[in-house]
Amino acid sequence: MKFPKFTLSCAIPSLVLILMVAGPARAQDGAALFKTKCAACHGADGAGKAAMKGTNLLSPEAKQRSDAELEDAILKGGKTGKASHVFEKRGVTAAQAKGLVAHIRELQKK
Ligand code: HEC
Repeated sequence: MKFPKFTLSCAIPSLVLILMVAGPARAQDGAALFKTKCAACHGADGAGKAAMKGTNLLSPEAKQRSDAELEDAILKGGKTGKASHVFEKRGVTAAQAKGLVAHIRELQKK
């Protein structure tokens, strides 16, 4: 198939632009998203609130969980399936959940 020159000269720069915008957005969102959506319960440092059971993301239990388990907890509420924790329904994508877990792992190292 032969594309008209005009289509190509438009499509290629658009594609480059989309990649430029989408790339950094994915990389930075873990920390920023955690601050806006999670820190209220889990604390900015991930240590959680003493009065809220299970919110300590730095606990030995949380450290032992696999990335997939933590992603599941974020997107689907984990084993308890707590409705308020189904962030999948609140605009958090699978890619963002990966970013959030990466951020949680960073917090666990400190
Ligand atoms: C309204 C308070 C609240 C908010 C907001 C919240 N969480 Fe939670 N989270 C909890 C509670 C409470 C638990 C303990 C498990 C349960 O009761 O469902 C939990 C459990 C978890 C777990 C599982 C921990 C483990 O040890 O297995 C992860 C991971 C997690 N939250 C991540 C997040 C992320 C990431 C966000 C932001 C997108 C978030 N949470 C927002 C209250 C909250």
